[in-house]
Amino acid sequence: MQLNNQLLLKNQCLINGQWIENGSQRIKVFNPSNGELIESVPAVSEKQIQSAISAASKAIETWKHLAADERSILLRKWYDLIIENELDLAQIMSDEQGKPIEEALQEVRYGASYVEWFAEEAKRINGNILPGKSLNNKIFVTKEPVGVCGLITPWNFPNAMIARKMAPALAAGCTIIAKPSEETPFSALALAELACMAGFPRGVINMITGDSKKIGELLTSSPLVHKISFTGSTKVGEILKSQCVPTHKRTSMELGGNAPFIIFDDANLEEVMKGLMHAKFRNSGQTCVAANRILVQKKFYTQFIEAVKQAVSKLIIGDPYVQDVKIGPLINEAAVKKVDRLVQDAIQNGAELVLGGKTLELGPCFYEPTVLTNIKPDMKIFNEEIFGPVVAILTFEKEDEILELSNQTNAGLAAYLFTKDVARIFRISRELQFGMIGVNTGVISYASVPFGGAKYSGEGREGSKYGIEEYLEIKSTVLSGI
Ligand code: SIN
Repeated sequence: MQLNNQLLLKNQCLINGQWIENGSQRIKVFNPSNGELIESVPAVSEKQIQSAISAASKAIETWKHLAADERSILLRKWYDLIIENELDLAQIMSDEQGKPIEEALQEVRYGASYVEWFAEEAKRINGNILPGKSLNNKIFVTKEPVGVCGLITPWNFPNAMIARKMAPALAAGCTIIAKPSEETPFSALALAELACMAGFPRGVINMITGDSKKIGELLTSSPLVHKISFTGSTKVGEILKSQCVPTHKRTSMELGGNAPFIIFDDANLEEVMKGLMHAKFRNSGQTCVAANRILVQKKFYTQFIEAVKQAVSKLIIGDPYVQDVKIGPLINEAAVKKVDRLVQDAIQNGAELVLGGKTLELGPCFYEPTVLTNIKPDMKIFNEEIFGPVVAILTFEKEDEILELSNQTNAGLAAYLFTKDVARIFRISRELQFGMIGVNTGVISYASVPFGGAKYSGEGREGSKYGIEEYLEIKSTVLSGI
């Protein structure tokens, strides 16, 4: 990989301010687009994981006492360096994750926007003074960092997911041990290198790569770690959460989704299509907020399906570096098999294949953008997260069918609603059991939005003014005799 700043391609882990190896224990990372080996990263040993925990534990004693302004300045420097190096970061991401290069650049900026946001929020960790039991009593409410945080992130947004956790944790005065996905570690390691260049003190940021199960077990069982924040599957989230119980850790969980995309017949077709193409095809459908089930009112169906056919058949799929390519590879062959299994199951059970529905000769990780109609609520594709470029369409007649259909999932992360009827917007969005609702838009992820889900989609919020609270503890000092 040829970068402007070759130092950004790190193949080591960061522990207590040192970049370290682990002898011959390494994990190879491949480019999903062409199958080529990019580099390898260490599979850290148990001893190395413990030294990362102990470094973070020592560093917090000084880091938490720094003035908010000082933490803010470091975060701002880190943000500036990310932006200065955005092209290299986009290239690293595109190579390891397969995202088209322009989309990778958008993700770098998206991740950086959280660093910028929390550089500001660091200065707004406000307390409160409450009246006490008598005139001479006062209750001082202050906020303190939760402590040492373990941050575990997935492969679908290798830069933004780790930035969205690191920035609020650091702003709050916590120290961290971050563990990016072993499929896409280089984006995160490059961010860690830029943080070192920004001047974060030794031990404040530790980043380790290796066996997920082992790292997860050691981080969750250590009494020196006070909080775990995880983004990934509901299944793994449940395991991590249960492992946190004996040491009473705080947890934030951003887990799977199964978003309904509801279109009423009074919707604006142009807005619907803009929203759908973003919410469905961003990252080739590999997002937890992806539009998974498209519910269209019957009267709107004919114009809608024509527009879908036109838009999807225009999508260019291929090498992420070729201009105008919008759909890259999926992360690996297992992901392709899973998507194909859902598509074939739907077809066998009566769905109609309008477009796509097969793998491509471009390489084993490519799956054709696909459109299926006549989806039924008992099909697997309606009930499982697709995580691929498949538009699965079902029609409905009346508004009163919508809530049961939409809420028929435990994955309550995101939902989308398209209608111009304001009363209906309030009526429906009030009853939708989801943490985020996009009304007449498919864009619901940016720094000022509280990101997070309801039901089995997890707990806690990232981004926004609420994101920093996940890393703060409230202390009440009850003053008497004054
Ligand atoms: C995710 O898919 O995990 C996050 C998507 C986003 O930030 O929009």
